Amino acid sequence: MSLRRAIFPGSFDPLTMGHLDIIERSVDLFDEIIIAVLNNPDKHPMFSVKERCEMIKEVLPAIESRGCALIVDDFSGLTADFAKQQRATAIVRGIRAISDYEYELRMALMNRRLEPEIETVFLMAAEEYSYVSSNLIKQVFTLGGRVEGLVPELIEKRMREKLSESE
Ligand code: PNS
Repeated sequence: MSLRRAIFPGSFDPLTMGHLDIIERSVDLFDEIIIAVLNNPDKHPMFSVKERCEMIKEVLPAIESRGCALIVDDFSGLTADFAKQQRATAIVRGIRAISDYEYELRMALMNRRLEPEIETVFLMAAEEYSYVSSNLIKQVFTLGGRVEGLVPELIEKRMREKLSESE
């Protein structure tokens, strides 16, 4: 039987509990999941791609992966190209609310046009994370709000360090 390999692409700036929830839900569907961190030079991220990959690698052991291999990698360019290059058969994306759907649908259809053999698999995030996004977390955190329980503890610590570096 061939290996069921998926990529889970995103900016992950930073990884949130919502992302972790999607990874946890994916492990029973695939043998291998590559958490693919987009290297996007146009954006001004809080964390470098290297920092984001390192943090994800540190947090992943907390997940019960039930035999699914979890790999972290970064990529540039098109998600569809990266998925093909990795010989993945699926692209996993999380959907929080109906407002995500239109954007995700457009991406899924474009990715299908680019690589018809690769399916996008949408998973619903847990209700308690349905409003959580990396951008909202960063905004609240930099303005002094509490984000505990919405990002892994280690990531909250790194955010605190990042903030104090910039002060
Ligand atoms: O975490 P995000 O920011 O919602 O992830 C968006 C991401 C990385 C999946 C999307 O921006 C993407 O796929 N970018 C790579 C460039 C690309 O393939 N663009 C065409 C998408 S149809």
